[in-house]
Amino acid sequence: MTAKSDGPRARRIAALRGAASAALVLLALAAYQGVLDAGWLALAALAVAAAAAWPPGAASEPSDAPELAEAGRARSAEAVLAVVPDPVILVDRSGLVGEANAAARELLPVLREGQPLSLALRDPDVLAALEEVLAAGGGGAVAYRPRVPTERSFEVQIAALREGPDAPAEGALLFFRDFTEARRIERMRVDFIANASHELRTPLASLLGFIETLQGPARDDPAARERFLEIMRGQARRMTRLIDDLLSLSRIELRAHVPPDAPVELAEIARRMIETLAPLAAERGVDVALDTDGGPHGVLGDRDELLRVAENLIENAVKYGESGGRVEVAVARREGRVPRVELAVRDYGPGIAPEHLPRLTERFYRVDVAASRDKGGTGLGLAIVKHIVARHRGQLTIESDPGRGATFRVTLPARAEG
Ligand SMILES: Nc1ncnc2c1ncn2[C@@H]1O[C@H](COP(=O)(O)OP(=O)(O)OP(=O)(O)O)[C@@H](O)[C@H]1O
Ligand SMILES: [Mg+2]
Repeated sequence: MTAKSDGPRARRIAALRGAASAALVLLALAAYQGVLDAGWLALAALAVAAAAAWPPGAASEPSDAPELAEAGRARSAEAVLAVVPDPVILVDRSGLVGEANAAARELLPVLREGQPLSLALRDPDVLAALEEVLAAGGGGAVAYRPRVPTERSFEVQIAALREGPDAPAEGALLFFRDFTEARRIERMRVDFIANASHELRTPLASLLGFIETLQGPARDDPAARERFLEIMRGQARRMTRLIDDLLSLSRIELRAHVPPDAPVELAEIARRMIETLAPLAAERGVDVALDTDGGPHGVLGDRDELLRVAENLIENAVKYGESGGRVEVAVARREGRVPRVELAVRDYGPGIAPEHLPRLTERFYRVDVAASRDKGGTGLGLAIVKHIVARHRGQLTIESDPGRGATFRVTLPARAEG
């Protein structure tokens, strides 16, 4: 970018920058306060800024004073553009790029000042909207969804730059608002509600079915009644568990930014949970072994939450790795720049195919939905583990050789000694 004026085009661009700078400040402020109706704001701000920063005749009557003023405006516009984190592009009336900030150049690597915008932004909708704004003035918004290198979602606000309401457009400002993250969160929210409702509806439908049977055909059949009541109890338990899990997930999320600070011994947590789950392991014929190195195994944490982590991982290993007959739990100290304590749970069951690994910690994700339901699972266990580990500033890694079991590893920063 150059602030030196060396001709009518440069002066026009400098004037465009000046007109846009005030508008950009307002836009950026409004965007951060979350009160953005960018289209209106841009137009209002541009009207004010254009009038103030673009005195009639400045482009056709060169003299030292206006050139200095233009250079100053250009510099401040450059500074403003640089701090706006969203892509912003200024084009002149023939669609040539006049100015672009760093975010715009990152989004469109082929973008060059002085070249047609259409070379870098090959989106027919955006280009058509830009053409219309340049021809008719005014402004508009259009969606822009590039697919490479990753799928992203923008709304492009396009506003004409002109001297007065009836004057022809001298150029246009394109302001890109990134909605990728917002759309992802929205999709997650919708999926989450659909999944949670579905998980509750299944046991509820079964309960209703049994109630009707008990009121009708099975009214006088004591043996059937006993059997049905037992199934109904299981379904009601399942719903309770699901709601408990959902509540604990939201509780952990609420406290995600507050790192827990109580001293906790990880080896003691593992030992305790192996004892608690001993009846389940015995019932399934799985031998659970604990191995600890010399330690120390102290971390700063929340004892109940860390118990949940050990419970979920060991219970999964016993339930899904049952066929291996053996589960190994290891607690070990890992020295390094940041000393860490690791809890590893290994089973020798069927393992997990690689395509499932990245999705295991998603809420309600199960490799085999029916098998997990049979085992009383809700598919929330690993999501809870992931959130707890994140709150503890730790890491969860999953390794698996299909056919030869799986290892779930949690590493947490070790507590400073003394
Ligand atoms: N050790 C393991 N071996 C094989 N598959 C596993 C193992 N641990 C978890 N999985 C798979 O990951 C899925 C998700 O596990 P997660 O703990 O989140 O849910 P769940 O066990 O089904 O339900 P919940 O934990 O709520 O009882 C399981 O359904 C299972 O398919
Ligand atoms: Mg589980």
